[in-house]
Amino acid sequence: MAGARKSFLIAQVSDIHCGDPRFDEQLMKSVIEGVNRADPDLLIVGGDLTMAGYRDEYDAAREYLSNFACPQRMVIAGNHDQRNVGYLLFEEMFGPRWSSATFSHRAQPGGKVEEFIKVVSVDSNKPDLDDGEVGRQNYNRIRQEFCEEGFFKVFVLHHHLIHIPGTGRERNIVWDAGDVLETLLSCGVHMSLSGHKHVPYVWALQGLHVVTSGTAGTHRTRGYTPPSFNLIEVFRDRIIVSFIFPETGEEKENALLF
Ligand SMILES: [Fe+2]
Ligand SMILES: [Fe+2]
Repeated sequence: MAGARKSFLIAQVSDIHCGDPRFDEQLMKSVIEGVNRADPDLLIVGGDLTMAGYRDEYDAAREYLSNFACPQRMVIAGNHDQRNVGYLLFEEMFGPRWSSATFSHRAQPGGKVEEFIKVVSVDSNKPDLDDGEVGRQNYNRIRQEFCEEGFFKVFVLHHHLIHIPGTGRERNIVWDAGDVLETLLSCGVHMSLSGHKHVPYVWALQGLHVVTSGTAGTHRTRGYTPPSFNLIEVFRDRIIVSFIFPETGEEKENALLF
């Protein structure tokens, strides 16, 4: 049972890309099984649900996401989801493109419910471009969302904040990455979660852990990195980020202190 754990468990799944010729249904099912077996407290779906934002691709993505058992979840859009004005379909099917919520361990022993984690997600996409930007007009809003202390603070966006090794020439961090990082550090954010380049990685930057996830549903992979998803155990003083590679059965664990 999720609440029996001492940690808060997050499953980070992204870039399933329904409709892509390299989408693999068996892979997707094994990811869903792996996440359901882990029984996380929170599921974060980090964008690129579709290949090009078409309705049938969104329908397929919604169907797959309905098979994840975790009731606490946050779903964001990626650059692919905004193609062909797909952001309207995203809003219809998954809700606002910006959101914020607090989450507790799903089942506290003794029935005690503690709001433990604060998650703020933003839409870093620009329709019909692959580039991303958070936008300086939004920094105060982010600061206000994270102003209350006592929470483990998580920021979610589709694009990257720092270059990721092994992804080729970097061109997909947000345009205003420096200012966004400064904003997050100024309000004590503990972790950011991104998808996008299909390679899992973790950077630690002055107490902010920058975690990216691979592609969970496709063979749109780079070099030797197979499809993957992340399981993140959050403790008060540390996080353990595990990259799970369902096709090979490998797991790579990264333990990071605050
Ligand atoms: Fe992607
Ligand atoms: Fe992307």
